[in-house]
Amino acid sequence: MKRTKVIDALRSTAYGNDICVKGWVRSKRGQKGIFFIALNDGSTIKNVQIVGDDANFDEETLKRVTTGACISVVGKLVESPATGQASEIQATAIEILGDCDSTYPLQKKGASWEFLRSVAHLRPRTNTFGAILRIRHNMAMAIHTYFHEHGYFYFHTPLITASDCEGAGNMFQVTTKNLYDLKKDEQGKIIYDDDFFGEQTSLTVSGQLEGELGATALGAIYTFGPTFRAENSNTPRHLAEFWMIEPEIAFMDQEELMDLEEDFIKYCVKWALDNCKDDLEFLNKMIDKGLIERLEGVLKETFVRLPYTEGINILQEAIKNGKKFEFPCNWGDDLASEHERYLVEEHFKKPVIMTDYPRSFKSFYMKQNQETADGGSVGYKGAVAPGPTMQGTDVLFPSIGEIIGGSVREESYDKLMKEIDRRQMDMTHLWWYLDTRKYGSCPHAGFGLGFERLILFVTGMQNIRDVIPFPRTPRNAEF
Ligand code: 4AD
Ligand code: MG
Repeated sequence: MKRTKVIDALRSTAYGNDICVKGWVRSKRGQKGIFFIALNDGSTIKNVQIVGDDANFDEETLKRVTTGACISVVGKLVESPATGQASEIQATAIEILGDCDSTYPLQKKGASWEFLRSVAHLRPRTNTFGAILRIRHNMAMAIHTYFHEHGYFYFHTPLITASDCEGAGNMFQVTTKNLYDLKKDEQGKIIYDDDFFGEQTSLTVSGQLEGELGATALGAIYTFGPTFRAENSNTPRHLAEFWMIEPEIAFMDQEELMDLEEDFIKYCVKWALDNCKDDLEFLNKMIDKGLIERLEGVLKETFVRLPYTEGINILQEAIKNGKKFEFPCNWGDDLASEHERYLVEEHFKKPVIMTDYPRSFKSFYMKQNQETADGGSVGYKGAVAPGPTMQGTDVLFPSIGEIIGGSVREESYDKLMKEIDRRQMDMTHLWWYLDTRKYGSCPHAGFGLGFERLILFVTGMQNIRDVIPFPRTPRNAEF
């Protein structure tokens, strides 16, 4: 008999028909010679209830229906007398597909997140991880749909690269060299001539630079792929391998970039509310009571658009009024997540798009704001800053902090080269990038959304290790 997915069995009203379902036993209980099995096959958070009379089944088979076992059930679909479920199955035959003994690590409810990470090969079978992974899939679909419907082309950028987009130097090297026998020059520097690519290569930290090549040809592109960062940040917001979505758009300015960032995130959140109702309700009940309200709240809010300089003024004012921060926040300092969260969660109480950051801690490719005679600069809507600023536009979210990092790009070859020289950057591996500014350069902008940070927000989970199936973090590459 053809298998019916649990999600379809639960939706079906073809009562009286025989169906076959297959899945993993969540629980089995008995009462007065009747057994009840909660069966889940991953198609939905909901289990289908299998009911049967002990007397009609072989005792040995029923003994093997243990938590975690994989079974196939044939039976009649009936309207359920129990509340909270429309239908159930009156079993006529049960076949054990895979036994599961008492060493199965997911026996008990209420296992800690840490413990579940140690059994990441099995945790997708729990209710919570099933819900998270279905939402993760749905968010990927939302992203592709959004860009496709808005005329963006999915552009594939390389994972192995000879350049460092963010210039932060935290890259994983890619080599086929024998690490015990490295050829070095007189200064002791490794010679890569005989390596696979004939030069030093790494895993990419961002597809942006190649994305800009796409945007300046196809008009609007997006990437969606894994990125890698060898930063030793053991935080609940950082992974060494994470997925990033990077749209890049020709002829887009600062205001339009902010519009896109806001519209795109709202679209994804709405998609979750529209398409992941059962999973969100489960998470709302079990993990985070404010989740659905918070998601609905974001759709109603207009994101604040805030120049960095104004943000610093607000933080300084807060300090004057007694607020204590661990890290300093004077003009020119990069904001720590405590500062971002103060602005978003306590001051504005809604998402903030921060823009016009000081040049000192932003990337070389960002559009430079008009400088003033006294060394300051003029940015968003004429706001004045005491030093040089760039049109970075990051989105800061409640409980997450930075969810998007983006900017308008510097399209002037001369200005870009001046900045590269000022930073004493070695551009040997980026000659092709500079060609975009030489040949038909155009204003353009883009951003990177950390996929797992979006999933954190949409699921209400607290740790980024719990929103990706197999997290990669310092000292952890298991599974
Ligand atoms: O702010 P970032 O470093 O920006 C870029 O890489 C730009 N090239 C993007 C662009 O403009 N096309 O990273 C972008 C986003 C961050 O806002 C954050 O959400 C996420 O990527 N991110 C991380 N997520 C998980 N783990 C990490 N280690 C992350 N580093 C950045
Ligand atoms: Mg950033």
